[in-house]
Amino acid sequence: MVEYKSGAIGLKKGWKTIVKEGNQFRYVLAPKSDAVKLAEKIASKPPNETCLACHAFSGGGPHFKRSNLSPDLIRNVNEEFDVHMVRGLFCSDCHVFEDHKFGLNSSDTWARDSNKTVSCEDCHEKRHRVPIVGSVLNTFHQKVACQTCHIPIIAREKYPTDVRRDWSHIEFNEKLGRWEPEITLKSNVIPVYLWWNGESREAYVYPERAKVVDGKIILSKPIGSKDDEDSKIYPYKLHTAIVPFDEGRGVPVPIKVGMVFALGDYNKAINADASVSGLKFDGKYVTLVRYMAVTTEFCPRKRL
Ligand code: HEC
Ligand code: HEC
Ligand code: HEC
Ligand code: HEC
Repeated sequence: MVEYKSGAIGLKKGWKTIVKEGNQFRYVLAPKSDAVKLAEKIASKPPNETCLACHAFSGGGPHFKRSNLSPDLIRNVNEEFDVHMVRGLFCSDCHVFEDHKFGLNSSDTWARDSNKTVSCEDCHEKRHRVPIVGSVLNTFHQKVACQTCHIPIIAREKYPTDVRRDWSHIEFNEKLGRWEPEITLKSNVIPVYLWWNGESREAYVYPERAKVVDGKIILSKPIGSKDDEDSKIYPYKLHTAIVPFDEGRGVPVPIKVGMVFALGDYNKAINADASVSGLKFDGKYVTLVRYMAVTTEFCPRKRL
């Protein structure tokens, strides 16, 4: 039963009240119920919709940033699309929360907390049991990550993913009624395969001086090799972005994105941010390269 809602509805239902804030001439909405008691009653896991409301749309559109977190996972999920979601798994079954600490361990996510995401082997046997085929598959486990076979294609079905963003070309998006960088969207992409040792990555963190090779900066790339016994082959979405660059300081120049959307005046947007961050833009660009892990939207066995 709902016992609490924020904003005007909460006020109407009598769950909130208006109180004066300190000695100031300011009034705020405050909950009438005991927050701790309410929290204790929330025994259920957060539904997947909660997570996907943000994560399916990050990067400015459906599937844009994370090619395998589609809005379709909210309600339209079927067996063909994601074996886990359709059989009732929650995001939080794998992303385990404890004391608000959040599990995270991939080559392109920066752990803010120490918990680790649950791995396939925590729930599944490492061994395939299917006769004959299974014994052949099992010989790959040392060198090939589970996702590599079980996610053969990324950005499946109706939502394409953003694979390239060119900030040196600003164009008007009629549908959204705003200016945008040139965005290349692709569906049904075969992932890029790289070795990863499960631990480390090559990464660029602003405002370090970047290492530029052939006009490119590696934003994030897994580290591993076939000769290393802990390394396995993993699938990745390759994303590139052409962004302004301050050659003197050796750093990409941040862009006031909101200004680009509203005005389409690219130079103004770059210089606005450059002046705040003390950088200089004189028409040079650099390509940011990012290998993004994929860990959801597992195909059923008959599609492999
Ligand atoms: C209100 C929006 C919102 C909701 C709801 C939300 N997240 Fe997030 N989540 C974020 C943002 C913002 C980040 C940081 C992204 C970044 O730093 O690039 C993030 C980071 C993450 C990351 C690390 C990925 C990364 O790119 O660094 C994971 C995993 C994650 N969230 C899973 C979940 C799960 C599971 C749920 C549901 C229980 C959830 N999130 C609910 C907004 C949200
Ligand atoms: C079967 C287990 C599993 C389920 C279910 C699952 N995830 Fe993940 N997720 C992972 C693993 C493993 C990673 C990669 C390792 C990491 O970042 O900790 C990951 C990574 C992520 C990331 C970081 C980007 C990436 O793809 O590496 C986000 C964001 C995320 N998950 C959100 C979600 C959301 C939202 C849901 C629910 C719709 C969900 N996950 C369901 C296992 C799962
Ligand atoms: C939190 C537990 C959990 C984790 C972690 C998990 N799975 Fe699952 N997985 C399940 C459940 C539950 C099912 C549904 C089993 C069923 O219906 O019999 C399932 C089903 C599957 C299936 C379909 C099996 C079939 O019979 O068709 C595949 C493939 C699969 N998982 C692969 C993976 C891979 C690869 C990973 C690692 C990224 C993973 N799972 C991580 C719980 C998990
Ligand atoms: C070399 C590719 C490959 C790798 C690596 C791989 N799988 Fe599979 N997996 C398959 C194929 C193909 C099938 C379908 C087999 C069949 O039904 O004939 C399958 C079937 C499955 C099934 C359902 C049937 C069964 O045998 O239990 C599960 C669950 C599963 N895999 C989980 C995993 C997990 C967990 C990992 C990582 C430890 C993994 N797989 C690694 C290719 C692979």
